[in-house]
Amino acid sequence: MQRFENKVAFVTGAAHGIGRATVLRLAAEGALVGAADIDAEGTAAVVAEAGSSVVALNCDITSTASVEAAVAATVERFGRLDVLANVAGHNLALEGTDEQWGRQYDFTFVGATRCIEASLPHLLESRGSVVLVGSISGEVALGTAPYAAAKAALANLVRNLATDHGPKGVRFNVVAPATVATDRFIGKEALLEELKAIYPLGRVGTGEDVAAAIAFLASDDASWITGITLPVEGGLTTGPGHVLNLL
Ligand SMILES: NC(=O)c1ccc[n+]([C@@H]2O[C@H](COP(=O)([O-])OP(=O)(O)OC[C@H]3O[C@@H](n4cnc5c(N)ncnc54)[C@H](O)[C@@H]3O)[C@@H](O)[C@H]2O)c1
Repeated sequence: MQRFENKVAFVTGAAHGIGRATVLRLAAEGALVGAADIDAEGTAAVVAEAGSSVVALNCDITSTASVEAAVAATVERFGRLDVLANVAGHNLALEGTDEQWGRQYDFTFVGATRCIEASLPHLLESRGSVVLVGSISGEVALGTAPYAAAKAALANLVRNLATDHGPKGVRFNVVAPATVATDRFIGKEALLEELKAIYPLGRVGTGEDVAAAIAFLASDDASWITGITLPVEGGLTTGPGHVLNLL
């Protein structure tokens, strides 16, 4: 499938995990990709794997100037922008002081709006698409309230932006993953093994599982889908029946 032939994507969090898998998936489907991350060594490794269709960009989504420069560099290099995938993010493991709520919100929510602001003029030209990575913890209570609440705000953001910009041809969606075995679980393999039991599909997710959902929403296959939050969660939130059956 070459759904992204002649299309250009900008992906944050591109050096590892879901972001890395997204860069490789989009490139494999024909996209030219600006791979943005704070980890320059990591993005260089992704370019080494993907080849010249991917350019590595230093970018910190907590800095407006940094995001603007990275989006501009993508457009300068490849001439247009069709897809924004904002993947960068993590739980800052905060407890809930004013400063900590603000820091998590700035990273998770304002980080996404920074990427959208910088990309939108180009996406309006190309009638492009935005996919933000949220979390299933933004949909149901799984703990870590500052992170979860900031992720939850993305669902409302895309509903509003989808309404504002739908008539101009730009789509906005969120994917909400549950447990995905990425670098953040290095050293916690026993926990991943235990977590399998709470998933009806019997396993935790992979970066590729989420990248496939991002690619779908970013592609013309989803051309009549906007403003949604798509759970990518192995059935975790279907209900407690699966776990009760184990007892
Ligand atoms: N792994 C999971 O279980 C899981 C579950 C739900 C949601 N998510 C979400 O998926 C996204 C990716 O998670 P992952 O597991 O692939 O993480 P990861 O830690 O494997 O990769 C995150 C990437 O983001 C980069 N990054 C960190 N801060 C950045 C910044 N300020 N600017 C630019 N890049 C930055 C890191 O260098 C890294 O390459 C995150 O938004 C996360 O909240 C992950």
